[in-house]
Amino acid sequence: MPQIIPGRHAGKIAIVTGAGQGIGRGVALRLSQEGAHVVIAEYNADNARRAAEEVSAAGAEALAYPIDIGDPDQIRQMVADVVAHFGRIDYLINNAGVNKTQPMLTLPPEDWDKVHRVNLRGLFFCLQAVANQMIAQVPDEVKQVGRSSVSYGKIVNFSSIAGRSGRPFAADYSAAKWGVISVTQSAALALAPYNINVNAICPGVVPTPMWADIDKTQAERFGLPPGGWIEKTIESVPLKRAATPEDIAAAVSFLCSTDADYITGQALNVDGGVEMN
Ligand SMILES: NC(=O)c1ccc[n+]([C@@H]2O[C@H](COP(=O)([O-])OP(=O)(O)OC[C@H]3O[C@@H](n4cnc5c(N)ncnc54)[C@H](O)[C@@H]3O)[C@@H](O)[C@H]2O)c1
Repeated sequence: MPQIIPGRHAGKIAIVTGAGQGIGRGVALRLSQEGAHVVIAEYNADNARRAAEEVSAAGAEALAYPIDIGDPDQIRQMVADVVAHFGRIDYLINNAGVNKTQPMLTLPPEDWDKVHRVNLRGLFFCLQAVANQMIAQVPDEVKQVGRSSVSYGKIVNFSSIAGRSGRPFAADYSAAKWGVISVTQSAALALAPYNINVNAICPGVVPTPMWADIDKTQAERFGLPPGGWIEKTIESVPLKRAATPEDIAAAVSFLCSTDADYITGQALNVDGGVEMN
């Protein structure tokens, strides 16, 4: 079971998108328990408030920030508000995502757009806005030489094992998650001169509200009892269990830590061995 490392992120300022529930909430909790102040950047205002209360009770300060990350104007405003409140941004965890399971042959254009608006476009413009702020925080002497032994920011983008191979019932989602790996590599190269690390996480099966929806749809489609689809999926996981949000949060905590200062442009599978490349 993942262990909290007290003080690992002491005083750092982290934005976690989609942190009102599921994996994002787990990431916010872990970073906070390890000393980071966390912005809960979340579409659902009630969940944002609830998560912020839980997170600040467990660790450092948490700020609920209701936002739709599909809207670049709201993202720009969030970055300005976070800097006004905390003075800087050290980590961006680009976790917010949506998914609607449906067959590739009847997938409507509006659903394709909805998934890409959040999972790829929204993620990209969060990254762009926060990266510009992180660059503004880099000392001029580092900018002049274009290298440094310390990191000036960590960005972790949420891809998926669906970003590693195709999905007949999530063609839009899979394409967006492949795109996240591409954006991660491009941003890692663009931000390397500033010593800002950009990596992606590819979770496997994590039972969250998102997975509850997938299970309901697929179990009905294939005549399985409730929970039947997720059970069948877990059978194909080499480690024979689903991940917990804590498993994923542990990997995010590592990628944000100084232990990962020499890692950039990578996509890390945290999936019990499903994908090996
Ligand atoms: N659960 C899994 O098995 C799994 C596997 C691989 C990847 N992922 C990815 O991990 C991330 C978290 O997934 P989860 O399972 O916790 O999902 P979830 O649906 O439980 O939580 C996602 C959160 O994102 C928020 N959100 C959605 N659209 C938003 C928007 N426009 N602006 C701000 N917030 C928004 C939702 O309100 C919700 O709180 C997602 O990117 C997902 O694609 C999940």
